[in-house]
Amino acid sequence: MIRIAASVLAADFARLGEEVAALDDAKADLIHCDVMDGSFVPSISFGADFIAAVSRCSRVPLDVHLMVRDPVSQFGFLERLRPHIISFHLEAVDDPTAVAHEIRSIGALAGVAIKPATPGGRLVELLPHIDVALVMTVEPGLGGQHFMGEMIPKISEIATAIRAGGLSTMLQVDGGIDVETIRAAAAAGADTFVAGTAVFGHRAGLGAAVDALRVNARAAVRN
Ligand code: DX5
Ligand code: ZN
Repeated sequence: MIRIAASVLAADFARLGEEVAALDDAKADLIHCDVMDGSFVPSISFGADFIAAVSRCSRVPLDVHLMVRDPVSQFGFLERLRPHIISFHLEAVDDPTAVAHEIRSIGALAGVAIKPATPGGRLVELLPHIDVALVMTVEPGLGGQHFMGEMIPKISEIATAIRAGGLSTMLQVDGGIDVETIRAAAAAGADTFVAGTAVFGHRAGLGAAVDALRVNARAAVRN
């Protein structure tokens, strides 16, 4: 199954309600919300009130990506928004299995993200304890960067481990995904694709953008 997660970081915040509401018709599978604390990554993006506003404007399930030093501190407010997925960074915590357990206990799927420099093996070890493996294909912290093709072997390594273990873990990629790069990521075994610029920056609109991404990912899986 191919899932497209539209990253709201690339939306026009001055028209947030309209942009997010359009994702329902565009048939996005998830709304990806990047929380940045200005410490784990240099930028500050948005927090609780913003995500609450997003969730009021759309029925598309929330996919929260925490790029913060203390992910557990965010769970209190997130629980009330009933997100489908909460992902945190492996590099930010001492005991990722415990943090994943806490996410599941508040009713969300537990995702673990790794930065480009973190080996895929660190995520492979965690697969039995998590629901979503998130491979960053850019340095986290900014939208609109170029996809790092050198992450493809890492995606393949994790996809192979998921299959070998008979697991149903989602394999998500985030950063620089567009109609071209999605092919390589899908062929390597990713099934969930975060796209910000490619969705909200598309001249023909959000629906056309989501369709084009999905069509190309499916074609790459079939080949
Ligand atoms: C980057 C964020 C991404 C970002 C992707 O740190 O995690 O989710 O919004 O944006 P694009 O698709 O523009 O690379
Ligand atoms: Zn993200």
